[in-house]
Amino acid sequence: MIVDDMLRTPDAVRDAERWTAHNYHPLPVVISSAEGAWLTDVDGRRYLDCLAGYSALNFGHRHPQLVAAAHAQLDKLTLTSRAFIHDQFATFCRELAQLCGKELVLPMNTGAEAVETAIKVARKWGYQVKGVPAGQANIVVAEGNFHGRTTTIVSFSTDADARDDFGPYTPGFTVVPYGDLAALTAAIDDNTVAVLIEPIQGEQGVVVPPEGYLPGVRQVCTERNVLFLADEIQSGLGRTGTTFACDHEDVVPDMYLLGKALGGGIVPVSAVAANADVLGVLKPGQHGSTFGGNPLACAVATEVVRLLATGEFQQRSAELGERLHAGLRGLIGQGLVAVRGRGLWAGLDIDPALMTGRQACERLMELGILAKDTHGSTIRLAPPLVITPNEIDHALTQLTTVLTA
Ligand SMILES: Cc1ncc(COP(=O)(O)O)c(C=O)c1O
Repeated sequence: MIVDDMLRTPDAVRDAERWTAHNYHPLPVVISSAEGAWLTDVDGRRYLDCLAGYSALNFGHRHPQLVAAAHAQLDKLTLTSRAFIHDQFATFCRELAQLCGKELVLPMNTGAEAVETAIKVARKWGYQVKGVPAGQANIVVAEGNFHGRTTTIVSFSTDADARDDFGPYTPGFTVVPYGDLAALTAAIDDNTVAVLIEPIQGEQGVVVPPEGYLPGVRQVCTERNVLFLADEIQSGLGRTGTTFACDHEDVVPDMYLLGKALGGGIVPVSAVAANADVLGVLKPGQHGSTFGGNPLACAVATEVVRLLATGEFQQRSAELGERLHAGLRGLIGQGLVAVRGRGLWAGLDIDPALMTGRQACERLMELGILAKDTHGSTIRLAPPLVITPNEIDHALTQLTTVLTA
């Protein structure tokens, strides 16, 4: 029997709080190992991972093929910088470009860097190709967006926590309501170089736009000679049951922004993929990153692309997502007021009269399920795509207990 004062968790939580800035409010759980969809804490308790590192762990923890690629690469070459070419680089860029159906790839590290890359490329394209007057480019973005944490990106956030007191803000962005095609169309002017949106808004609570919105964005972008930049950093790479969330409506953006799962849960890897008429505007010295496209990252990410090329993970997400959503829909009226999402990705709105999202996540944690709240009463579920049907049922049972006990 575990006696409370023998537990290592309380000390480890206190230590973490003592030695770090409080820019996160983590659940009081201290993980020490993981495999597949399961995590183990410092006291030996096991948890089913229903967050998957905000989709960075789509293939589960320590997927054998990815770990093997990382080990093999660690023993050969880890970093060159882009001053030299290494032997993993072209393979990764080619295979990712092919997965995206695009001509070129530009690798970076974090999601925010992919977004910054997209913004810079769109502006340069606007001036050099579209003919926008110098300094006048604007980009249309959506309310409720989450694209990262840099000063430029938070400049067009509509979330007070993300934005307030981080000014002065970068100009050149027009914010319109998400899912409202008429508003987006009206916001486009002659100096608009791009529309930047998430095909499903993850941080906002897994908000799926109305059917026809994404094809409408595609059409208006084509008509007005504006780049469609799809931030698939959280929604892409199998999460929604297809390779990209845009695929559900057969929409092909001008640029995919990728991150999170691209690093296989091992290394930070992000990238943008687009055709040469867009990415070709960048010339040497105009953009880059010391670690972007490093050998270790490329070796792991190439295996990620190969896992996705099999289609197995997309299929798992589609099929198991049906099971997850069917179970969740059954809880509407029994503690849940709404459920949204696609594939193995769900946003659940908890009845605010019952408890907050945070309280629900704390209770789930006590029952061995790890998930994360967002915006008060919403919980996001995004389990690794290797989760089994029984494990989904287990998560649903525990959620039912939390909501109805
Ligand atoms: C849609 C989207 N874009 C960009 C980012 C930023 O990625 P990163 O945290 O790796 O900078 C995130 C992170 O949650 C995201 O969900």
